[in-house]
Amino acid sequence: MKIELVKEINNDFPTLYFIHNQSEDNYLPSEIKEKIDQLINKKRFEQKLDNIATIDIDEFTYLVVSLGEIEDLEDHDFRVALYKALKKAKEYKFENLNVVVPKLDSLSLTIKKIATMLYISLYDFDKYRTLKPAHSFKKINIVSSNIGLAQQNALTEGVILGEANSITRKLVDTPPNVLNAKEMARIVQKIGKKSGFEVDIYKEEKIAKLGMNSYLAVAAGSANRPRLIVMRYFGDKENKEILGFVGKGLTYDSGGYNLKPASGLLTMKMDMGGAAAVIGAMQAIAKAKLEVNVVAVVAACENSISSTSYRPDDILTTMSGKTVLCENTDAEGRLTLIDAITYIQREEKVNKIVDIATLTGAAGRTIGNVAAVTVSNCDDFYQNYQNASVDADERVWRMPIFKEYREQIKTEIADYKNIGGDPGAITAAVFLEAFVEDKRPWIHVDIAPVAYQEKEIGYYSKGATGYGAISLYELAKSEQK
Ligand code: BES
Ligand code: ZN
Ligand code: ZN
Repeated sequence: MKIELVKEINNDFPTLYFIHNQSEDNYLPSEIKEKIDQLINKKRFEQKLDNIATIDIDEFTYLVVSLGEIEDLEDHDFRVALYKALKKAKEYKFENLNVVVPKLDSLSLTIKKIATMLYISLYDFDKYRTLKPAHSFKKINIVSSNIGLAQQNALTEGVILGEANSITRKLVDTPPNVLNAKEMARIVQKIGKKSGFEVDIYKEEKIAKLGMNSYLAVAAGSANRPRLIVMRYFGDKENKEILGFVGKGLTYDSGGYNLKPASGLLTMKMDMGGAAAVIGAMQAIAKAKLEVNVVAVVAACENSISSTSYRPDDILTTMSGKTVLCENTDAEGRLTLIDAITYIQREEKVNKIVDIATLTGAAGRTIGNVAAVTVSNCDDFYQNYQNASVDADERVWRMPIFKEYREQIKTEIADYKNIGGDPGAITAAVFLEAFVEDKRPWIHVDIAPVAYQEKEIGYYSKGATGYGAISLYELAKSEQK
């Protein structure tokens, strides 16, 4: 699919217009406006959000999408309206399309958003279908009468973010028999080379030398051996500050000896959604050449059952030196993350950390499948993430750390235990917090509710959503000096 920013509509293409209660009189061509008015008079079209009219004039087809009352329109609504319109265009098997940019907030922002949404809306994981879909777009023109450098740059950035979402989703959708830790490492190396960041892959020997025994315990049961994936991007070499990302990279989570029930096993390929988000973000950050330093770490592995698996009752000595009693092998993500957090602080010297993980089922029970649950030890840093998540249209909701929770992860026979009871999403976060050193600003993003959807929701089709990659990019952008 080719996307281009153009001044005028291509008359050979069908055209998509957005209207709202305050559309300027000259926005719609007069013959289309007449038809719309006729439809409204006949009560066959209402100026309500998401309503779509298909209008044929001679051999030309126009889709007119209503955004309803502009005063009530939220950013999310506009994105969903665009998604629905594109779905309609796909139904009609249009191969090309003009998308006329409506007058909303800033022109550049709207262009950026449309470009990103084209990717998000048209994403289709068809690699393993032998019968490929008959339809795909060849060319989409984004039509704006005003095109300057700012608008061109907005298009470029929007495309970069769309691609970041797509790669994240593709990684999550790829089945676990294909995407094991070794394969993830290979893909990251390829992405790093292409987009411009450094990649180091560490195998078991090196991981053991680093003392990452908590991570190795989780990896112990699988014939698919672990890979520690390190991505480094230095876009501001004068600056010593380094932003750190840690992504949970369980290529499959069976639960281990604390085996998940059948219903919980299906979709657990998505347990590397945090890793995928971090990888997508690194691709975008490097492609956009942001002037910021970012190091990202993924402790990739699989949580399997075998005679070499770790068990409930095991006591693990983590890279930090602290000990952890494993009370439940299904609370494995946090055991990989704590070593990754120690590694990124001690070996990569990052100043701030964001960890992103499909960490707990409790997160979804708290907030539903519409937002990520977040926890942080730093209000200022968190505010930046909050703003980034608004720009990305990836919702978050912050939970508190009350000191009582910190007691819940303690035990007599080791420094900590890996489960802390209710509230599960917070006690998991507090467990990670115990490994954050020197009061570094830290944000934890539990994306278990949103990384993967069982059915279409908003502008995401069923399956992986790519959630998180764009927020991490926007955060890195806001950290530029
Ligand atoms: N990967 C799961 C969390 C998860 C659950 C992600 C549902 C997506 C959807 C995690 O490793 C896990 O199993 N957590 C346990 C923790 C429990 C043992 C304290 C959970 O949420 O049940
Ligand atoms: Zn688990
Ligand atoms: Zn897990």
